[in-house]
Amino acid sequence: MSTARRQTPPNVILIGFMGTGKSTVARQLSRMLGFALVDTDAQIVERAGKPITRIFAEDGEAAFREIEAAVLGELARAERAVVSTGGGAVTRAGNVEALRAAGMVVWLDAGVEVIMERVSGNSERPLLQTADPRATVEGLLAERAPLYREAADERVEVDELSGDEVAYGLAESVRLWFGEVC
Ligand code: S3P
Repeated sequence: MSTARRQTPPNVILIGFMGTGKSTVARQLSRMLGFALVDTDAQIVERAGKPITRIFAEDGEAAFREIEAAVLGELARAERAVVSTGGGAVTRAGNVEALRAAGMVVWLDAGVEVIMERVSGNSERPLLQTADPRATVEGLLAERAPLYREAADERVEVDELSGDEVAYGLAESVRLWFGEVC
């Protein structure tokens, strides 16, 4: 992670594992900053014309990743937006470049316990429909944590915080980062 300021368009890009609160925090933060709200999973669903579970079931994960890469590739066109991304957004090097080109990248980092609490009972995440979801989460998290770390300008540990608290803290960092645009 490099916390040095970079020149980017005035957008905030939230990355992190499933269940870390990206959508909730993005909604709150966009309100606080007066920025637009962009949800890349919603854009993927719109583009595919069907929900994520059906994209995975009918077309496979690779097809989902293709659409995801296309959507992320267009993010730098946004301006004054808070963007919530899918947990796998960092799994392609080209995507990471696209995320960093689009704005300040913030990693919402949660531990396995909190993730399990938040994702359990939710059937909308095809990757977690396994015999042992906890082992799946642990495995994916181990693979992805270094990628989130590498991609991020800033990391927020969210385990002990509500969505509101995360958003309040972030609003401050974003204002410092972008100065006059917020
Ligand atoms: C995925 C996370 C999901 C969604 C898809 C794949 C992943 O988004 O993009 O199910 O690979 O971690 P959330 O992180 O919003 O759940």
